[in-house]
Amino acid sequence: MKNITCIDDLRDLHMRRVPKAFFDYCDHGSYTESTLRANREDLSRIKFRQRILVDVASRTLNTTILGEPAAMPMMLAPIGLTGMQHGDGEIYACRAAQEAGIPYTLSTMSICSIEDVASSVKKPFWFQLYMMKDRGFMKSLIERAIAARCSALVLTVDLQVIGQRHADIKNGMTVPPEWRLSTLFDFATKPAWVSGVLRGKRKTFGNLAGQMAGTEDLNSLSEWISTQFDPSLSWKDIDWIRKIWPGKMIIKGILDITDAREAVKTGADAMVVSNHGGRQLDGAPSSISVLPEIVQELGSQIEIMFDGGIRTGQDVLRALALGAKSCMIGRAYVYGLGAGGQAGVAKAIDILAKELSTTMGLCGINRIEDIDRRILIESRVTNA
Ligand code: GLV
Repeated sequence: MKNITCIDDLRDLHMRRVPKAFFDYCDHGSYTESTLRANREDLSRIKFRQRILVDVASRTLNTTILGEPAAMPMMLAPIGLTGMQHGDGEIYACRAAQEAGIPYTLSTMSICSIEDVASSVKKPFWFQLYMMKDRGFMKSLIERAIAARCSALVLTVDLQVIGQRHADIKNGMTVPPEWRLSTLFDFATKPAWVSGVLRGKRKTFGNLAGQMAGTEDLNSLSEWISTQFDPSLSWKDIDWIRKIWPGKMIIKGILDITDAREAVKTGADAMVVSNHGGRQLDGAPSSISVLPEIVQELGSQIEIMFDGGIRTGQDVLRALALGAKSCMIGRAYVYGLGAGGQAGVAKAIDILAKELSTTMGLCGINRIEDIDRRILIESRVTNA
């Protein structure tokens, strides 16, 4: 990975190495992708104050996340289907995160199961939960996460109905992948991907297969989600989960101050300000534009995490400056996974960490806890 210097390089390699349907699944957003673009654009508009002749020789990224020590203020976000970006992708991504000293979140919609990952890594990881209609199955899934010693439950609450991603429909994306005439050439030009996925432990949704109808041969993710996911989900269901899950809970998918206030009332340990990477409500504001208001009112009551558009260490610093305690890294690490498995994820984390450290230095900052709005040129902060 010598010539890889930034996350965009990993993206280019991911695009070349992984079949189009899975690259597009990761890369795209919903409908016109205006929110996907806003996430990136609004972050890049935030300007730093350059500071000079400040002693920044003792810079460290060490911090705590949910009270646990972490090597940097980042964690890997829950992403579905990562085992289709690289065989056993969930295990490799989790190992890379744990070696880097940051939390990894396993998605409900993963290919490797909770047990596959738990038996292949050294430390506990976080588990992300989607609420499905079958409460008996939900209970058993939560119990499996408890048995696997998962250290936090990330409850994603912004996917009661699914925003359409045109690319997935056009590509006819299926899990397991179908060897159709139209995709055969694509697969033939990606031999490393094919052999990795064929050697992988599983070819379909490891947490669900055999336990939920329709997951063995999933033709349309959105169709399946619309039959299984619970559109009637409401705040009272969070209480139901709290009774079963004894550990730390994070509510992910908060974009509105009214919802943020409700999330605090649940007694959750943290919330993630997120628009699901621009994959759900197209036309929603960027995550970074709503962060300041939520932090200002609720930052002293709950740990606030940020998600949405992080592609550089500079972006991480921007979100921290606006009050986030840590950032979820989504596409940036999946590009690494598609580009080069565990080494690619490690590279993605390393790129972001080095960029963050350098940018802190150029802003005259040594420690994560010293980062605040004073490092920004305020007039150029979006919506703040
Ligand atoms: C699922 O979480 C998705 O965004 O596809």
